[in-house]
Amino acid sequence: LTQPPPDAIRWDDVRELHVVRKLSEILRRRWGLTVALAGPDGRPGIPQAPPLAPSAACRAVQAVPAGERACSEAAAELGRRAADPAAGLPSRTTCHAGLGLCAAPIVVAGKPAGLVWTGGFAVDDTSAGRFADRLVALRVDRDAARAAVEGLQALPAADLEYLGELVRLIAEEIALYQTDLARRSRPARAAAPGSGRVYENIVGRSGPMIELCRLLDKVVDSDSTVLVHGENGTGKELIAEAIHHHSRRRSERFVVQNCSAFNDNLLDSELFGHKKGAFTGAIADKRGLFEVADRGTFFLDEIGDMSPALQVKLLRVLQEGTFTPVGDTEVRRVDVRIIAATNRDLKRMVDRGEFREDLYYRINVISLTVPPLRDRREDIPDLVQHFLLRQAAARRGREKRLEPACLSRLVDYAWPGNVRELENEIERLVVMAGDEPVVGEALLSPRLLRAAPAAGPASLPEAVGALERTMIKDALERRGGNKTRAAVDLGISRRNLIRKVSRYKLDRARGPAPRR
Ligand SMILES: Nc1ncnc2c1ncn2[C@@H]1O[C@H](COP(=O)(O)OP(=O)(O)OP(=O)(O)O)[C@@H](O)[C@H]1O
Ligand SMILES: [Mg+2]
Repeated sequence: LTQPPPDAIRWDDVRELHVVRKLSEILRRRWGLTVALAGPDGRPGIPQAPPLAPSAACRAVQAVPAGERACSEAAAELGRRAADPAAGLPSRTTCHAGLGLCAAPIVVAGKPAGLVWTGGFAVDDTSAGRFADRLVALRVDRDAARAAVEGLQALPAADLEYLGELVRLIAEEIALYQTDLARRSRPARAAAPGSGRVYENIVGRSGPMIELCRLLDKVVDSDSTVLVHGENGTGKELIAEAIHHHSRRRSERFVVQNCSAFNDNLLDSELFGHKKGAFTGAIADKRGLFEVADRGTFFLDEIGDMSPALQVKLLRVLQEGTFTPVGDTEVRRVDVRIIAATNRDLKRMVDRGEFREDLYYRINVISLTVPPLRDRREDIPDLVQHFLLRQAAARRGREKRLEPACLSRLVDYAWPGNVRELENEIERLVVMAGDEPVVGEALLSPRLLRAAPAAGPASLPEAVGALERTMIKDALERRGGNKTRAAVDLGISRRNLIRKVSRYKLDRARGPAPRR
């Protein structure tokens, strides 16, 4: 999937946004002003040669080269100020030609991503005089200058206020669209804050996943054996792969073998290879996977299923780096990092004499536990989005969206089969939905529909309160924390909303996609 970085504004889409078009239309009709959309460098965000000319007065200035240059520089300076929070973008100011200018930064995920501005109007009684002087200084043709001064649009204070508000609204709408886009198109990748290492294939932002990343950061650079623990379908193999891909062995092979897939003899020959004639059917020499994985990483899945005989051979590789192929006398030496995984309780198996104690301590140098999905429900929306995108890519179709009620069911479910089960459920939903772009909860598989929604509130007031809280939270998220708009959506006054936000303690989780 190739996508522009989430913070690069998609100007083509933005220009077409209904709200942006409507608001721009108001500016044009009411004051004859054009809205200028610019990137963080102040350059126009839409294909149009700089400088921008938001009004007729601006066009008169730009009719001469010196004026055009001055406008270009002023626009670039505006861009610099918008990109630098310390410099601060003045919401209202006057330009080099003495005319009024209104600007608002577009802030996406806390970072300046561009600006919206307009200008070229009179702000007070002195504007026209200063503008006329400037036109003379720039050597604008006299007739053109007179026409420009006469046609200068004056904005009374109240209009100016309103204009500023509209410009800010446009910037907010764009930011909202971008934020939503970034969140929907790019589920959070797992990373420990401040580490700079992002595990691109691992989706998640929950506390337990962040903890896991902290551990991963520590183990990737070492050669120690790692034991990955976790229930079925939690992502053990994914973690093992991530370790390999972030280690210095990344350019070598990552070899996977499931230890319960074969009978003992076959597994022996699979892992360590065999000499021709070592047993019936051994018609040629065969390299074992340990040799294939030399200098790379070997992932031994379901290590708890390995027979005692093979456990001995494995211990030797781990301790001495050597092994002997089946039917051979020659010792081979390899440099392999081992990552083992199991969903069984190896310690208990040791106690019961089913797993060698020495091997247990040898592979358990570092142990990672992948948390089950029910302990990291926060990751479910991201995972759902990740799988929806995958499905869309695999089917070369448009990405589907889940109705909020459908997503809630997925978040509330206990997921005995963990991430794999969730993945299958999403695939099923996509198939069931057919051409429908939005998936409703009715399409969920029967076991999900049968499952009682998570323990609900006991009384009617509690239920109403819970519903109110959820609706307010959703509205705020949808509106990027903008209370005015969330209040409109909810059909209540802003003051009322503020009261409720504080009552439900929703003011702590601010912003659309809180990260820890
Ligand atoms: N955090 C995650 N982000 C994205 N995909 C995930 C994540 N965790 C698991 N998956 C996906 O879920 C599926 C199961 O993961 P994986 O095979 O790694 O789990 P496992 O623990 O090895 O399962 P099993 O116990 O069945 O062997 C895979 O398709 C994997 O890509
Ligand atoms: Mg597995």
